[in-house]
Amino acid sequence: MIKYRLIAFLAVLLQLHCPTLGQPYPNYHADFVGIGDHGADLKWWQTAAFYQIYPRSFKDSNGDGVGDLNGIAEQLPYLKELGITATWLSPIFTSPMADFGYDIANFTEIAPIFGTMADFEHLMEVAKKLDIKIILDFVPNHSSDECEWFRRSAARDPEFKDFYVWHPGRMENGNRHPPSNWISVFRGSAWQWHEGRQEFYLHQFVKKQPDLNYRNPKVRETMSNVLRFWLGKGVAGFRIDAVPHVFEIAPDNQNQYRDEPRNDWDNDPEDYGYLQHIYTKDQPETIDLVYSWRAVLDAHQREHGGEDRILMAETYSPIDIVMQYYGNATAEGAQLPFNFLLISELSNSSNAHAYEGTVLKWLQHMPKGRTANWVLGNHDQPRVGSRLGRDRVDMLNMLTATLPGASVTYQGEELGMTNVWISWKDTVDPSACNTNPSIYEQYSRDPERTPFQWTDAQDAGFSNASKTWLPIAVDYKELWQLRKQSQTLKRGETEVKALSDAVLAVKRYLERDSTYLTLLNIYDGVETINLLQSFPDLPPQLKVVVVTERSQVKVGDLVNSTSLQLQPKDSLVLQTTSSYYSYATNGETRFLPVLGVYLWLAQVGLYLSSR
Ligand code: GLC
Repeated sequence: MIKYRLIAFLAVLLQLHCPTLGQPYPNYHADFVGIGDHGADLKWWQTAAFYQIYPRSFKDSNGDGVGDLNGIAEQLPYLKELGITATWLSPIFTSPMADFGYDIANFTEIAPIFGTMADFEHLMEVAKKLDIKIILDFVPNHSSDECEWFRRSAARDPEFKDFYVWHPGRMENGNRHPPSNWISVFRGSAWQWHEGRQEFYLHQFVKKQPDLNYRNPKVRETMSNVLRFWLGKGVAGFRIDAVPHVFEIAPDNQNQYRDEPRNDWDNDPEDYGYLQHIYTKDQPETIDLVYSWRAVLDAHQREHGGEDRILMAETYSPIDIVMQYYGNATAEGAQLPFNFLLISELSNSSNAHAYEGTVLKWLQHMPKGRTANWVLGNHDQPRVGSRLGRDRVDMLNMLTATLPGASVTYQGEELGMTNVWISWKDTVDPSACNTNPSIYEQYSRDPERTPFQWTDAQDAGFSNASKTWLPIAVDYKELWQLRKQSQTLKRGETEVKALSDAVLAVKRYLERDSTYLTLLNIYDGVETINLLQSFPDLPPQLKVVVVTERSQVKVGDLVNSTSLQLQPKDSLVLQTTSSYYSYATNGETRFLPVLGVYLWLAQVGLYLSSR
């Protein structure tokens, strides 16, 4: 009898002190992703709040109308205050600026318009003091045609002769034609005739951006050395530009390139969409190349120590291909292949089910043990406020801050900056300039690249002030504070559910910690919801921890789980107040309490039978 009582007592005690014991690993439901990381040490980048700086437009320190490195250094405390932990900078290297820095003439030199190498080193020092990591843009697909390598390649200098993709073209009836029908991302043939060399060269972007030839091992080595150079300057990693374009198919044994097939939905023969890019995009060799860059970073870390150096890959590709960039069983890849699904799959008219599907698409495709990331915008995409609705910016920041993994904010999105309309006359983006006045707006990236609005002065303080023009949404800072402090948000499990067409819920939970619930009312009506219908294990009341200006509840208020009102386009983060509810059984039975009850019952039975 004593034995039974003791065993039962121990079972209950054990359960109280170690509630995870006996709790089965949560199942994978359609709306649930068990990617929680219960034990392992998290690396800095796994929960980082990244911020993209487009240097031309961030902060101008010398009054020449273009942002610069000293401007960035000046404003780093602002990023620190926001809670940003790392920032990636669009290219700051010597460039004729045909594609605003994405056409690099010298990969290891700072463009004078942005400053000097000493300014860069100063920026690194300021960043180190503030504990903000600096990530540089690595543009491997092409250089500028003003790069020394290209000049020497065009002149058939033996060392550089095959640095780029050259071809004499196709001769038909005595006339010379480009080697294939390939089209540039920025319109028109991807082949440009070079008078000097008397050959065509490939350019997948503008003609001032000749494609490097990655089938040449010397190119691969040269570009790895570019990585080593900046690693030596102390950067924390690289954002890799235009990754899917890096390799194109090799010529056949007749030295011919195959034509790409047509897309019948596009009738404009100059437009990139006219062809299916089966020979110029997503070639399998590209994935191995990214793995080789990761090996360069890891080797540097082994030699020099310090925290992880990382790769973030710009991969607009089908999801199965994007996932391969993470790595495989034998090789590591980019820690963070950018997740662009919030950009590519959602629109102004998406409902909560579409949001749910979009978030789950990434989480469910992601290989086990990898880290998710959420990108709301960048310098190539209409601003999130213009894309998904100005009055949804706060809720989207709330969503990305409370989903698992890292998030990436494009400069100005924390203020809800929206696209600025730019006339055809003022348009400078080559992607738009290569079109015409009637269609340029579909292609222009200028509207999302306008100067950061630091103040409400005429020049928006871009040139001399440090206070922001639009208020920073209060919740933005609070969200990042919360995420820094909360183990649940950093490493907890995730459940994503559309509670109706209008309301999306994200539940984050971790044993022995608070559970968080993020609620988004995507639509314009007032919504009353009963949370217990979808999350029966929640307590009757929840505490409000983050609100937006639209919310009628305040931080600290207690709300009823059975009847909670959300204002139009409102969003909230709620928290459980009792750790009991954080056990989050997700409907599964816990083994030990059940065993405990059985043992007590057995004991009562024995006691009764012994009377
Ligand atoms: C990437 C950049 C874009 C640039 C292109 C060519 O997509 O983000 O801005 O124009 O590559 O380098």
